[in-house]
Formats: sequence, C-alpha cells, structure tokens
Amino acid sequence: MNKPVILKAVNLCKTYSTGGEQFHAIRNVSLDIYEGDFTVIMGDSGSGKSTLLYLLSGMDELTSGEIHFGGDRIDRYNERKAAAFRSRQIGYVYQSINLVPDLTLFENIALPGYISGMSRAATERRAEELMAGMDIADLKSRLPSQVSGGQQQRAAIARSLLHSPALLFADEPTGSLNHAHGAAVLDILTRFNLLGQSIVMVTHDIRAAARADRLILIRDGRIGGELDFAEFPDADTTQREEMIFAFVTGKE
Ligand SMILES: Nc1ncnc2c1ncn2[C@@H]1O[C@H](COP(=O)(O)OP(=O)(O)OP(=O)(O)O)[C@@H](O)[C@H]1O
Ligand SMILES: [Mg+2]
Repeated sequence: MNKPVILKAVNLCKTYSTGGEQFHAIRNVSLDIYEGDFTVIMGDSGSGKSTLLYLLSGMDELTSGEIHFGGDRIDRYNERKAAAFRSRQIGYVYQSINLVPDLTLFENIALPGYISGMSRAATERRAEELMAGMDIADLKSRLPSQVSGGQQQRAAIARSLLHSPALLFADEPTGSLNHAHGAAVLDILTRFNLLGQSIVMVTHDIRAAARADRLILIRDGRIGGELDFAEFPDADTTQREEMIFAFVTGKE
C-alpha cells in the first residue's frame, strides 16, 4: 500500500495529573493516517479515543511525542499557530453536539467562515451547498433546539466541513442518534470520503466501522491492533462486520 501519509504520530503520550495522581491516558501511540482514507478508531469506554483525537487534531497538548502534518511538527506550534492550523486544515465533529444554541443552523454552519475571514459570499455559498448536501436546506432559519438530533448532527458536520479541511475528525458522530438518523449521518460521511475527504472517526458501532478503509483499536491508551480492509478486497459488508466483531472482542 503506497497511499500518502497525511498525518504521522510518533510515540504520543498524554498524562493527566489530578489531585497529585497521574493518569496515563495515552501511552506510546504511533500511527500513520493516510490521505483519502476513512479511518475508524474503536475501543472500550475510557480507553483514550477522545483524548487521542484531541491530540491528533492539535486541540490538546502532548505530554511527549511528535505529530507530523504537511512537513511540519504541529506539536511544536505555539497557541496562535495551532489555532490557525486547526482553522485551516482540521474539521472536528465533537462527541456531544455543540452548536451555538441561539444561532440558526445556517449561522452555525457559516460561523467558521465568518471567523476565519473567508469572504461572506464564499462562506454563504459553501454553507448553502453543504446544507443541501446534508438534506437540511429547508431548516436554514431554525434554531438547534427546533430540529432533531440527527439534523443537529448533520449541521455540526456541515460546520466542520465549511472550510474544506484536509482532515476531518468525528468523535462518535452517531453515538446519540437512533438507527435511521445514524445511518443518514454515516451515508453523508461516506459520500464525502468517496469525494476524497480524509476522515478519522471514533465509533462503538460495528456497522459504522464496516464503512472504513482501516480500523485502529485502542486498549488502555495503547494501540491494541489494526485491521486494514485493503487486505480483504472481496469481503462484503456482513463479512466485514464479522471480522470487526472478532477483532474488537479478541475472538478469532
Ligand atoms: N481532563 C482529564 N483529567 C483526568 N483524566 C481524564 C481527563 N480526560 C479524560 N480522562 C481520563 O482518560 C481516560 C480516557 O478518556 P477518553 O475521554 O479519551 O476516553 P474514550 O475512549 O473517549 O471514552 P468514551 O468511549 O466513553 O468516550 C479516561 O479514563 C478518562 O477518565
Ligand atoms: Mg470519547
């Protein structure tokens, strides 16, 4: 496999200190994320998935290690450079939906464009286009509280894609949704991935993971294993789901 590496993490460690005690949330994690891939991260609750996503996206500081992106060491950026990097290159869909409650869906989606100094016309064109693509075009002037959880999550994804990020992180984007809404959100992510969007998604859902090119398992803050679906080009969805189940439960 010779796909270009978009992000390279080397020996990442993250230690939290609370009340004099140290907790090693991420321990010596090294991994490559490939351009154009749909990479999925799975692991038990508390295993460190969200922490890892914060580190990889430059949202949180490492305790030690290196993160390489586009020929740069993003872990060496100061806060100003890190913020600029995130607003240009990274999209992030949070584990809990965090739209601004008193802005409309359209304003929420356009917000990163207004903030980053993208022109108003380009921002609004892109926001309209994304809303249409997410099938929420008719909800432009609704507040988040006036739409369903699935529609809120689609708006959050639209917002994360506004500036066409090089790499999109999504932390359990279907975790709080019912099956139909979750499937619609996954369809959208899959569609963007097929158009070339690189995605790293955390999920507990085997059906969601079966959409991936590659699966990384996190166990107690370490890499617990990796499954590369490129090695099984003939596996259909059911076979993939069975492979994932066996992999995450440690059964062969
Ligand atoms: N700010 C913090 N201070 C101390 N410990 C923390 C902090 N944030 C997370 N942790 C701990 O680090 C570990 C990993 O947390 P993390 O949120 O990354 O887990 P996760 O795999 O995303 O879990 P979930 O599937 O429940 O979202 C947990 O044991 C958690 O309690
Ligand atoms: Mg989490």
